[in-house]
Formats: sequence, C-alpha cells, structure tokens
Amino acid sequence: MQIKSICCIGAGYVGGPTMAVIAKQCPEIQVTVVDTNHARINDWNDDDLNNLPIFEPGLAEIVTEVRGKNLHFSTEVDKAIDEAEMVFISVNTPTKTYGKGKGMAADLKYIELCARQIGRVAKSDKIVIEKSTLPVRTASAIKSILDNTGNGVQFQILSNPEFLAEGTAIQDLLHPDRVLIGGNTSTKEGEQAMQALVEIYENWVPKEKILTTNVWSSELSKLTANAFLAQRVSSINAMSEICEKTGADVQEVSKAIGMDSRIGPKFLNASVGFGGSCFQKDILNLVYIAKSYGLNEVADYWEQVIIMNDHQKDRFSDNIVSTLYNTVSGKKIGFLGWAFKKNTNDTRESAAIKVADNLLNEQAYIAVYDPKVKAEQIYKDLEYIGSRSLEENKKYLEVFDNPYEAMKDTHGIAILTEWDEFKEYDWEKVYQQMKKPAFLFDGRGILNKKEIENIGFVYYNIGLGN
Ligand code: UDX
Ligand code: ADP
Repeated sequence: MQIKSICCIGAGYVGGPTMAVIAKQCPEIQVTVVDTNHARINDWNDDDLNNLPIFEPGLAEIVTEVRGKNLHFSTEVDKAIDEAEMVFISVNTPTKTYGKGKGMAADLKYIELCARQIGRVAKSDKIVIEKSTLPVRTASAIKSILDNTGNGVQFQILSNPEFLAEGTAIQDLLHPDRVLIGGNTSTKEGEQAMQALVEIYENWVPKEKILTTNVWSSELSKLTANAFLAQRVSSINAMSEICEKTGADVQEVSKAIGMDSRIGPKFLNASVGFGGSCFQKDILNLVYIAKSYGLNEVADYWEQVIIMNDHQKDRFSDNIVSTLYNTVSGKKIGFLGWAFKKNTNDTRESAAIKVADNLLNEQAYIAVYDPKVKAEQIYKDLEYIGSRSLEENKKYLEVFDNPYEAMKDTHGIAILTEWDEFKEYDWEKVYQQMKKPAFLFDGRGILNKKEIENIGFVYYNIGLGN
C-alpha cells in the first residue's frame, strides 16, 4: 500500500516539524496539517517566516521549500481527514487539572475528540497514528471509539511516538536514533498498515533503525525513554547539591562519570531543573499507571524524580534570597532566559516559571529577557500558576527586548536558559551597570567562573561550592 496523502491533526511543536520533514523527504505525498486554532494556522501560512508559531532551527528553510507544494496548513479538519489515507494525531495531552487523576493522569479529552471526528468523517479505510505522547493503552481506546462511531470503514491504529527534542527537532527528525512503530502484529491488515508507515520512513531512515513492535511496547517505550532521561537529570541535580556542600565540582563529576562507557556523557548537565512538555507529564503518567495497578513502590520510585526536580527549582530561588541578605523585597533581579531550554520558544514547565513565582512571592521585581519568548507568553505562564493577578504580575515583572536594559540596576542576575548568546555578552559592561555587590546565579553552568569573578561578580553556579 503506497500512501499518497497524509493528514496531521494538531499543528504544534510535534505536528508542525514532523510533517514538514515528511513532506520534504517524500515529495510524492501530499501532507496537510490541520488545527482548530485559526491564529496558529494563519501563522504557519504567513509569508514572513519570522511569524511561524514555533521557533526551531532549520524549520523555516524546510517550510519555505515545501509549503504550498506538498505541505499545507489548514483549518478545514473534516476535509483533510476525508482526503487522507493516513491520519496522524498530534494534539496536546496536558496533565488533567480536574477530577480523578488530577495533576497526574493525561487528559485525553482532545484525543477522544479527534477520534470521534475521524470516525464521523471517514468514508474510506484509514490508518490512524498516535503521535502525541500517550499513556499506555490509549490506542485501544481510540480503536474502540472508531469502531463504534465509524461508518463501517476499517481503521488500523498505530503508535509512532515522537522522540524529537525541541531545539534540535529538525536534526532529530532527519537523523533519528530510531523510529518506533507499534501496531497489531497479529493480523494481516495490522502488518500492512505498519509496512505502509515503514515505507514512508524508509525514504530517508536506514531500515535497521526502524523498529516495529506491538502497540503497548511502543507506547510504554516512549514513557520509559523520557523517564530514564529525566531521571538522569534529577540524579545529577541531586549530586549538584552534595557538590556544593563538599567542594566537589559537579561538572567535573559529570565528565568523569560520563566517560564511563556504561553511563555515557549525555543528560548529565546539572541545571536549575528540567522542563518541557514531556518529562514531567510522562513521569506523572507512569506514576498514575503504576498506582492504578496498585504498584505503589514503582509509583514512589518514579515520583521521586519529580520531587527532586521541584526541589532543585526551589533551592535555586531560595539561594538567591538568602544570598541577597535574606531579602529580595523591592530588589530588581534580572532573568536571562525563560524557555525550558535553548533554541526553542516553548516555555511549558520551564524552571524559570517556578523560580519567578517564588521570587515574586518574596516581592522582588523581575526583569526578563529571552531571545525568542514573547512577553504575552510569560504573563500567560504566570497566570497559569495563579499566585497573583495579571495586573500584579505586570507591576512586578517586566519583559525587555534588550538584555542590557533588563540587567541594568539589578542586584542579581539569574541565568535560567542556556542560550548561546548569553556567553557572548559584554559582562564587564553588565557589571558596571549593576548594584554592588553584583551577584550572578548561573542556573545552567554556562559562564566561566574565573573570568566572571575577575570582573568582580559574586558568582554562584549550580553544583559548585565556594
Ligand atoms: C524530550 C525528549 O528528549 C524527547 O525524546 C521527547 O520526545 C520529548 O521530550 P524535550 O522536552 O524537547 O525532549 O527536551 P530535552 O532535550 O529532553 O530536555 C528536557 C529538559 O531537561 C530541559 O529543560 C533541559 O534543559 C533539561 N536538561 C537536559 C538538563 O537540565 N540537563 C541535561 O543534561 C539535559
Ligand atoms: P505538542 O507539543 O504535542 O505538539 P502543542 O500544544 O504544541 O502540543 O500542539 C497541539 C495542537 O493541537 C494545538 O495547536 C491545538 O490547537 C491542536 N488541537 C487540539 N485538539 C484539536 C482538535 N480536536 N482538532 C484540531 N486541532 C486540535
């Protein structure tokens, strides 16, 4: 079965870049990305590529190349579903904010809506692919909805979890470590559907990197990968606190253990805490699944990864307060970075949000600069936490387009995101414009301690004792 038309529901951080790369690598396939959010689709169609709704290195170039040829962005969801042989579901699955599983389970509301819509619209057989991170066994829920609401056409459900990391999405998609395709391996139709998707990826991914598994393994592998990665960050962050007390240097420890080929060097950068749309959500999902099977020890084990991460964020803001003579009330603190990591404008679960909230509770004034995050998003993030009114947030937190303006007259500066440009700043100039003593809290360990201290700063780096 050779696929000629694909529809992707959800034009977000996953759907957008993934479909752009599929369209680029498979010129013979028509790819339509749909979303109910009109503003978002307009931005995807904007001639000015600076207005694309998401920032991702390399994305704008691909969009220029294929948009209007075989990549289309539209709000006509029904039409796109109807015309496609293959439908990807890439809608968001936030953590539930109400009812059973509140704060832990994934909210599958949007997925269910999609499934019902596909069931209602489809007049021909379709392969439906879950792309969003989903808790195990979601595919069976999708299948049940489709089979019971459909017009008698056949649906094959596949799980094809996304392993792209934001900031490197295009490279991750072009050169994936592996592509995972879960399906119904026990029927001929299931096998054929998997093969159809395998053939799409084979246009650019080496055969041996495309793994086919049963659906549940595929779904659980996604949660497992993120849980293991998050666990490494929490583990090294736990060590960072010991380092600060003992005089060890966490970056030296990371390097030393990373050279052990059994451990490897990646995901060992101590930080102010991990963020992003996946890590926390996926672990909470895992915890919820474990609890629902009565596996309390398993649940506690994974929950600790989150507890450690929350502690790391609080510890960072506590340190700012205690270092600034136990009060930040009325003091201006500069924030460099708001995104959850560099090279993305995504702020979901970013450590900066919690650190800012803690400092605002202490009545600090915060001046934020982030190269890609808009002021509107920053206020939205704080509003979501809900500690203060928008009015109050606007009074105590200001967003700047110019980093030097943001850092002027501050008592202290906190680095929350590891944007490369922060390393290139004229730190001498920054120092001259600050109140003295000038404190610098490097939550990402990106500056050179010696150089910074030589300028005159009092420098605090995660995982480095004084
Ligand atoms: C993650 C997974 O990597 C990806 O495979 C999955 O599909 C989606 O979730 P992403 O959330 O985009 O990707 O970012 P990732 O690079 O994994 O970083 C997550 C967080 O951990 C960031 O806040 C990052 O700054 C932090 N981190 C990462 C550290 O603090 N230290 C590290 O060493 C690595
Ligand atoms: P992710 O990081 O998983 O891509 P995003 O929030 O960036 O998450 O993107 C998900 C997109 O899915 C949003 O733009 C949202 O408007 C869209 N979406 C959610 N539900 C539906 C639906 N039923 N039909 C179409 N689009 C939807």
